[in-house]
Amino acid sequence: MTVTISIGSGKGGTGKTTVSANLALLLARTGRKVCLVDLDIGGADAHILFGLFEPKKTLTDFLTRKVNTIAAVAHTFYSFNGLQLVPGTGDTLQTANMTYQEKQRLLRALAKLEVDVVLIDTGAGTSYHALDFFMHSDIQICVTQPDPTSIMDFYTFLQLATIRKVLGSFLSQSEVGVTLKRHNFKTLSEVIELAEKTQEGAKEKVQQALKYFHPLLIINRDTPNSGVNKTKLKKMIAKYLGIDVPELGEIPDDTHINQALKAYMPVTELYPSAPSSIALQKIAVKVDQIVDLFNNHSSPQ
Ligand SMILES: Nc1ncnc2c1ncn2[C@@H]1O[C@H](COP(=O)(O)OP(=O)(O)O)[C@@H](O)[C@H]1O
Ligand SMILES: [Mg+2]
Repeated sequence: MTVTISIGSGKGGTGKTTVSANLALLLARTGRKVCLVDLDIGGADAHILFGLFEPKKTLTDFLTRKVNTIAAVAHTFYSFNGLQLVPGTGDTLQTANMTYQEKQRLLRALAKLEVDVVLIDTGAGTSYHALDFFMHSDIQICVTQPDPTSIMDFYTFLQLATIRKVLGSFLSQSEVGVTLKRHNFKTLSEVIELAEKTQEGAKEKVQQALKYFHPLLIINRDTPNSGVNKTKLKKMIAKYLGIDVPELGEIPDDTHINQALKAYMPVTELYPSAPSSIALQKIAVKVDQIVDLFNNHSSPQ
């Protein structure tokens, strides 16, 4: 079976693409068939990290219906353990205004990829596209930096992702679903309050929907004095969202990352013993185990 992993963040520049590209490569090195999909619409650049400057085909070819499968636009890097990459698309009117139907077509096509792991580099921020791509996967990973502004942006992102998860758990035709969709909620407690007013027992349904929502956290560009902000973040998430966000790892601020970028190679390939590479390798081992757990848990008895 295919396990999908999405990488998201509250704002751009937190290191999503660095993490996605290196994780994809490290997972491919374990022998898994991996496809990295660049869904950062408008900010797609994962191909650059692998030295692929002008991809012959990109996601645009799929979105404009020149081809009908995602596999048809995937590029295989034979020099990187057969890792596949679906290069992203520029910010065209077509992609920026993707309709619900077009998004569904894309998600259906992604599900047909014949690989072990699909890794999705999603766009930053809280647009519906970014949130939907982030939430659509089996495993969600969030990347944030430890400074107060990034932490706040990350918290807002997670809050909206949680609200969307809760809204999705109610049928759109149902009384609760219709009521919830009419409002533009800013906090999870507003959602729960109104849901409970509309339908008795809605609160339990919300809690049920969030029971298996455990986005995994990566702190990137970690610095020695970032502990206070991380503690605050964890308290805020527990208090206001009531979800558990296990920490997957911390990646130190490391100049090797930009040196590797300038050489158009993933840092774990070019400088495997750099501090950031060691952190990424540790993270990849954990993700590999989580993929195994997921496979074992989901396989028919
Ligand atoms: N741990 C790190 N140490 C130093 N530079 C980093 C680190 N992580 C990312 N960068 C740099 O930060 C910039 C943004 O990273 P990127 O992965 O493109 O972020 P995003 O995809 O979230 O926009 C890039 O120039 C990248 O090389
Ligand atoms: Mg990026």
